[in-house]
Amino acid sequence: MQVTRLTFDRFRNLKAGEWEPYSGVNVILGENAQGKTNILEALWLFTGGKSFRGAKDSELVAFGEEQSSLAMNFIAEGREQNAEITIKSRRSAVLNGVTQTSASKLAGVFCGIVFSPAHLSLIKGAPLERRRLVDAAYCQLRPAYVKTLTEYSRVLTQRNALCKAKNVGDAAEELMELWDRQLAQIGCRIIHARQRYIKKMTPVAREIYHGLSSGKEEFDLQYRSAVDCGEEETAAEIAVKLYAVLREHHREDLAAGFTTVGPHRDDIEVLINGHPARSFGSQGQQRSAVLAMKLAEASLLEEVTGEKPIALLDDVMSELDLSRQEYILNHIRDWQVFITCCEPTPLMRDGKQFSMKNGILST
Ligand SMILES: Nc1ncnc2c1ncn2[C@@H]1O[C@H](COP(=O)(O)OP(=O)(O)OP(=O)(O)O)[C@@H](O)[C@H]1O
Ligand SMILES: [Mg+2]
Repeated sequence: MQVTRLTFDRFRNLKAGEWEPYSGVNVILGENAQGKTNILEALWLFTGGKSFRGAKDSELVAFGEEQSSLAMNFIAEGREQNAEITIKSRRSAVLNGVTQTSASKLAGVFCGIVFSPAHLSLIKGAPLERRRLVDAAYCQLRPAYVKTLTEYSRVLTQRNALCKAKNVGDAAEELMELWDRQLAQIGCRIIHARQRYIKKMTPVAREIYHGLSSGKEEFDLQYRSAVDCGEEETAAEIAVKLYAVLREHHREDLAAGFTTVGPHRDDIEVLINGHPARSFGSQGQQRSAVLAMKLAEASLLEEVTGEKPIALLDDVMSELDLSRQEYILNHIRDWQVFITCCEPTPLMRDGKQFSMKNGILST
């Protein structure tokens, strides 16, 4: 995947213009509030996703303007393609001259991964964020997994409603068992999928982390579940255990008013040198861990699609020492990478530096 040209008009603070990025590492340098993140955000929209800053579409249009337009030429599947995005109150897209039913249809055609400082909450934040990372990444590999997640959440809502009703009569007990069985049948697939994904991701992330820390630190990921099951267990074996755990928790769940165990409560522990990064990781270690996971996600995506996604790394350098910065600049090979930073990067050997000032990008 390679962006050959990006054009922007009335997008955030960017002055209407055109940019031909380099095929390798692109560093976008500039002081605060100049438009560095804005240009990454423009690139990201071509993945079909929403702004990685959580902005509404209308917030992307330059102040005082009605609509914004973006266009991109890129190489994917070995050929030149082009896409256009128009943002009014909502986004619309055209791909290779064909109007799409929705801008999200660009997903899968143009792929990217993004690191933003907000993603540091992956380490510090609630388990939900880590589950989401793994679930979203697995959905990209196996689209049918979306349905499993939706089905699980539907049955969970029903079981939770019963827990909240606190009705412990015989009929309720029977109904509860019915939900237990269904939840176990679907939930086992989620636990199994996450374990498989983590097993694939860990060695890749570990190798990247090893490089980032100059071989001084070890990275590891572990799936933590109330269901005690090993990596090698089949979905059917996990279902039996999950069913037993759900049954054991009837009284607790009725008291709590919701389902207290299951894959919706599981966590993914990030370990550095064997210690949880959440409690013991330094700022630089936490940043390195998130980056290693994001880059590993890109590698796994490449395995399936045969295409390396572009990497958007927003403000990744701060809090990293020189050897970690050097690794990012020089060891992410054969990828098109976009890195924003405020300080010049003398460590870069092969790559291009651009400067962003007041919404204008120059070489
Ligand atoms: N819709 C908009 N219209 C016009 N300007 C906007 C719009 N949205 C944001 N801006 C402005 O864009 C400017 C640059 O934002 P951006 O987040 O890209 O800065 P940055 O260069 O990444 O800075 P930092 O180094 O602080 O992260 C900000 O001053 C912001 O006010
Ligand atoms: Mg920024």
